[in-house]
Amino acid sequence: MTRLATGAVIDGVAVITLDNPPVNALSAALRADLLAEVERAIGDAGVRAIVLICAGRTFIAGADITEFGKAPQPPSFADLFDVIENAPKPVVAALHGTALGGGFELALACHYRIAAQGAKVGLPEVHLGLLPGAGGTQRVPRVVGAQAALEIITSGRQIRASEALALGLVDRLAEADLREDALAFARQIVADGARCPRIRDREDRIAADRASPDLFADFAKANARRFKGFAAPSGIVEAVRAAVTLPFEEGLARETALFDELVASPQSAAQRHVFFAEREAARVPALPAEVQPIEIGSVGVIGAGTMGGGITMNFLNAGIPVRLIETTQEALDRGLGAIRRNYEAAAKKGRMSADQVEQRMALITPGLDLAALAEVDLVIEAVYESMEVKTDIFCKLDRIARPGAILASNTSFLDLNRIAAATNRPEWVIGLHFFSPANIMRLLEVVNGSATAWPVIACAMKLAKRIGKVAVLSGVCDGFIANRLLAPRGVQAEAMMLEGTPIAEIDRVLVDYGFAMGHFQMMDLVGLDVIGRDATERSVMGDLVGAGRLGQKRGAGYYDYDEQRRPSPSPVTLGLIGEVAAAKGIAASPTTGDDALLARLLYPVVNEGARILDEGIALRASDIDIAAILGYNWPVYRGGPLFWADQIGLPRIVAEMRALEAEHGETFAPAPLLVRLAEQGLGFGDKA
Ligand code: 3HC
Repeated sequence: MTRLATGAVIDGVAVITLDNPPVNALSAALRADLLAEVERAIGDAGVRAIVLICAGRTFIAGADITEFGKAPQPPSFADLFDVIENAPKPVVAALHGTALGGGFELALACHYRIAAQGAKVGLPEVHLGLLPGAGGTQRVPRVVGAQAALEIITSGRQIRASEALALGLVDRLAEADLREDALAFARQIVADGARCPRIRDREDRIAADRASPDLFADFAKANARRFKGFAAPSGIVEAVRAAVTLPFEEGLARETALFDELVASPQSAAQRHVFFAEREAARVPALPAEVQPIEIGSVGVIGAGTMGGGITMNFLNAGIPVRLIETTQEALDRGLGAIRRNYEAAAKKGRMSADQVEQRMALITPGLDLAALAEVDLVIEAVYESMEVKTDIFCKLDRIARPGAILASNTSFLDLNRIAAATNRPEWVIGLHFFSPANIMRLLEVVNGSATAWPVIACAMKLAKRIGKVAVLSGVCDGFIANRLLAPRGVQAEAMMLEGTPIAEIDRVLVDYGFAMGHFQMMDLVGLDVIGRDATERSVMGDLVGAGRLGQKRGAGYYDYDEQRRPSPSPVTLGLIGEVAAAKGIAASPTTGDDALLARLLYPVVNEGARILDEGIALRASDIDIAAILGYNWPVYRGGPLFWADQIGLPRIVAEMRALEAEHGETFAPAPLLVRLAEQGLGFGDKA
């Protein structure tokens, strides 16, 4: 078997190279090989110091996440780290790429750390619903103090080498070649007396923290909104408190206990599912291996409204020039102004420099004529949702765009195949469905038309990553994956409203489940006039618009709003609900109880997901979860609707849906795939 860690002695320094592609995850096999090499180096009288360095693109990026939830294999992190930390010879970690999680914790158990200039370090476990479980919560506060440690560990952010040096998390930066500089550092340490300082022995920072016992409660309080619903942050606060209040070994034991609790929790299982699901979404199994994605060097965007502007910003941020086209100078100026204001606001918050604002703005070439798109590699149409308008644009584009240019529509529910049919090159037409605000939301639905060519799909999937999006491939259907999936939640919220369930109750249950806001709060935020403009029958929303209650922007929509935009129930809305219900002949039968409300709101989403999967609109169940999480802010710690359904158990969902079907009709009839999986004792995660 290939050894994952190999040693070579150079001038009295044992250089142990770890090589476990792609990211040197600290798997049991790597731990075993590393331990053997470290022990060999300790036992070798000719070795005066040890350097740990990684091959490939990065230092260890953490524990091997695939091993969580399985029986632990020896050696444990603790056993390995003990040998390293207690080694009688100095051990130097040489960091490049991203030294994360258990990888950075390993570095902290070494006596010294040297980092390449471009290296980053961090403890991102919180994003997996975990806390650092290999001493990170105990060692980091001993270096930077509890306050900074809390910030670093609860944010999970990656820290640049220069900041890590300033914080004392690394001892020096390599000047040129990391390996050579690490060797020189090790030799110098030997020449200076071969000291083996252990972070665990450092007391200065945490002694100071003992004087401020309130800092933990204050930190939790100040971040309550950010942490809401998540279990890991309070575990982190608890573990860092243990670092300050308990001796090292006891603090470590507390950290282990808290880690074990989290790793076994449904939240962490959900967040680990999301980690792999995001990466899996990029894979298109049917894509022939020889297909080369088309490269994109320039983009045209048609429409400088909110959507077109947001889409444009994604490309500017990635350094890709954009030709932005509008029909009137006024609309163009408005769009450009909005983009500039957005960047200037970011600059004000210190997220970019004034120069960077100008560099991005300089990448835009505004224009009023589609002819300006003759030479771009990709055109994205982002105009009003009208088949007539869109087919007209595509017909014109077909004549203007150069052969080999990709023509994309940002349509959110229209039939892409009809749009493609307006051209003589449907194989070059694709859907690129962004979610609003398009410069922020990470989901990009790549819509595969019936004629779309493989190189065009391959290009879109690759481009998504370049502009910081997660692409999910969708077939053509009304609403594609995310909008179609979530539509039933809105239908049920409105049905329950007419049956007399208070809208504040419906929204509260969704917020308690983990959504940032409820259905009606969301409608009010977007604007009832915007959402309801195509309505064909009488609705509460239509009546609210008729009464001038357009949503938050008017201080009144479904709710009344005060100056701080805090919602409160509105007697006007209540009256309108009663009137519309009476006109439709709906009798009062409010739904009560959180479980019943959630089942009514979210089981239809699960059901729609089953249909989307069964029809082959989505490639896999986890893509549907990603679409819900990244497109609709489905709480990440629930893992998405289908992962959540698996956790509840499909037989239970089928049984409850049948009961709902008996009461409310066939909308609740469980989808055939849901029934099949439940009968076979399987979950969505088991469906190949
Ligand atoms: N374990 C297992 N597999 C991992 C992994 C890990 N820690 N980190 C990355 N991978 C896999 C990915 O799944 C992906 O596999 P694939 O090619 O089959 O899809 C492959 O490595 C490459 O990863 P990315 O596509 O993400 O590559 P990038 O270059 O974009 O990013 C990275 C590299 C920044 C290292 C990113 O992969 C990452 O953030 N990894 C996770 C880091 C992390 O969370 N570490 C903490 C783990 S928990 C822990 O350490 C517990 C400890 O405290 C005890």
